[in-house]
Amino acid sequence: MRIVRITKELQELSDQERELGRKIALVPTMGALHSGHLSLVELGKQYADSLWVSIFVNPTQFGPTEDFDSYPRTWEADVAACEAAGVDVIFAPTRDQLYPDSAQTWVDVADLSQNAPGGSRVGHFRGVTTVVSKLFIAAKPHFAIFGEKDFQQLTIVKRMVLDLGFDLEVVAGATVREEDGLALSSRNSRLSVDSRIQAGVVPAALEAVEGKVLKGERSKVNLLETARHEIEAAPLASIEYIKFCDPGTLSEVSNKLSGQVLVSVAISFPAGDPSGEPVRLIDNRLLNCTE
Ligand code: PAJ
Repeated sequence: MRIVRITKELQELSDQERELGRKIALVPTMGALHSGHLSLVELGKQYADSLWVSIFVNPTQFGPTEDFDSYPRTWEADVAACEAAGVDVIFAPTRDQLYPDSAQTWVDVADLSQNAPGGSRVGHFRGVTTVVSKLFIAAKPHFAIFGEKDFQQLTIVKRMVLDLGFDLEVVAGATVREEDGLALSSRNSRLSVDSRIQAGVVPAALEAVEGKVLKGERSKVNLLETARHEIEAAPLASIEYIKFCDPGTLSEVSNKLSGQVLVSVAISFPAGDPSGEPVRLIDNRLLNCTE
């Protein structure tokens, strides 16, 4: 396994692989790797010969009051996990490789990023699409693997690939969960013990909503109430949003749900670390609301 820190070196490696006719799959990550990330590596193996993981905690997708400094960084464990998973290359660029001094170029998928519930974190998706573009330019992969866990991000990245004509295919991987249904996330390690116990309400709320939809409920107001009720069972939980969106445009749907609807939630819990920054958990579920 190679560890590459310089963009130019990665581009050369990509050219060599391509000359040998080998397909490359890239799994972009911010590190603190868990089985969710590793499931994307496994998925990539179905598509490509050479598996690349990027590890870069991207400063531009964090708001000024968000947890950039306290975001978990577990470099040695990440390297060991990649080695064990049969990763061929880790791209771990230094900050100046992706953001040269005075960098001023942004990639912004304007409408989707604005419409998306997560767009309330100002500049978040612009930071994601900018860094993902840079990673694509550096790795020149044939396949880029993203998780459905971040469904809004996945939709926005797919749109960006289409709009800019990146010569690669975006592949989506299913969400890997803990036993109580909590989606694996690098941020889970920041939860206090009590927060971790109560965080089970997040998947429980989505489950309850889906249960009601299966029984024929189509009222957004009623489903919102169902989700709120589940989450209020956790006194430590604080709701940032619960939104019902069109999975294609990410804009909020009207009160009567129909077709495919994405329910997305962002719920915060107190951290176990002294940073004081709450731990923001996101999750989602695609609801089939056809009659
Ligand atoms: P990160 O949160 O590290 O996630 C990296 C990839 O792993 C994303 O595609 C995400 O959807 C996927 N993932 C996270 N948790 C998962 C789970 N429980 N099951 C399956 N897949 C999961 O998303 C980012 O980093 C960044 O925004 C990035 C795209 C790297 C740009 O900086």
